[in-house]
Amino acid sequence: MKDLFERIIKDKGPLGKWAKQAEGYYVFPKLEGPISNRMKFNGKEVVTWSINDYLGLANHPEVRKADAEAAAEYGMAYPMGARMMSGHTEYHEQLERECAEFVNKESAYLVNFGYQGMVSAIDALVTKNDVIVYDMDSHACIIDGVRLHHGKRFTYRHNDMESFEINLKRATKIAKENNGGILVISEGVFGMRGEQGKLKEIVAFKEQYNFRLLVDDAHGFGTLGKTGAGAGEEQGVQDDIDVYFATFAKSMAGIGAFFAGDFDVIKFLQYNMRSQMFAKSLPMAMVKGALKRLDMIRTMPELREKLWDNTNALQNGLKEKGFNLGATNTCVTPVFLEGDIPEAMAMVNDLRENHKIFCSIVVYPVIPKGMILLRLIPTAAHNLDDVKETIIAFSSIREKLEKGIYKRIAASLMK
Ligand SMILES: Cc1ncc(COP(=O)(O)O)c(C=O)c1O
Repeated sequence: MKDLFERIIKDKGPLGKWAKQAEGYYVFPKLEGPISNRMKFNGKEVVTWSINDYLGLANHPEVRKADAEAAAEYGMAYPMGARMMSGHTEYHEQLERECAEFVNKESAYLVNFGYQGMVSAIDALVTKNDVIVYDMDSHACIIDGVRLHHGKRFTYRHNDMESFEINLKRATKIAKENNGGILVISEGVFGMRGEQGKLKEIVAFKEQYNFRLLVDDAHGFGTLGKTGAGAGEEQGVQDDIDVYFATFAKSMAGIGAFFAGDFDVIKFLQYNMRSQMFAKSLPMAMVKGALKRLDMIRTMPELREKLWDNTNALQNGLKEKGFNLGATNTCVTPVFLEGDIPEAMAMVNDLRENHKIFCSIVVYPVIPKGMILLRLIPTAAHNLDDVKETIIAFSSIREKLEKGIYKRIAASLMK
């Protein structure tokens, strides 16, 4: 018999094995100072493209004031206990009403974390007789929710409607045999590559097939659609989304999340989602802060306009220089380059130290081997100087990458 920790110490996992080389720099970096377009990293000011503060609310003076006032009035504990037991307040209800109204649904239910909420909602929505059909590129919270499912599940190739229909047919056969139903899950925006989920096409299959649609719109909420209500609004199919989900961790620059849908469905979630039934409710400061943020999203469309001005300037500027941005049709701006992991590390080091640009780096196994993804998140807090400096820096690092300079640097560091 082995000591349980023997494996843990030997095999640190696919990311953990890089900890020695990467920690504090490529992973667990410390960005310091107020959240904005420029923050401090390693003692230097850098243009920050790695924070999902799409609308620039994180450090907006009105938001800071609302947060501070709520924390002063209620502390960070109130209310204590789970919503069902003792953690319920009129402001939690108000936020739910306002979220529901904003995304054009009858009802909404708050959850403390989007990730846990999604896992738990999937768990609550299906029984072993039901079948789940979901996109292969789904966020970990969807994958982990599906892991709890005791029945059948099928993945379809990312945003591929032919593959979707094949798997929907399989699911239909099994659901009929089991006398169960089908839950289809897509993201509104796939956050790594920035492609919107094909919600309109998925919804069109409802004419022929019987299923319910759950959409994780973490990156669409506040950024897409005429009013900012997300990918469903953008694609004109919000009414056909049966369960809508958004987190407060991105456009809302806070913490918490919510599900929205028909009254009966949300009532069911309220009484059956284990992540909420057995966990303390959201603190009042977060709830009142979220009410303020939602109000600003509703009444200040200029924030979304600024976000899109910056997004268009960045994406068009990069495209003009010949960069491959994949198929993004949202603010998420992926820049695809070719190279291996050590090369990618040397390149990002140059980008941060010499060009003062901080963005996220994504490599295998998240994307195919030999690819490097530099992921930029424009926000309303950025400006055109940030964009200009970034495009110059990107042109410079691409040239060095193509000349093999980073390969040589990486090799010399490995010696
Ligand atoms: C698509 C998607 N779903 C869910 C989550 C999880 O939300 P939270 O941060 O509120 O746990 C995230 C990331 O934050 C996300 O990108």
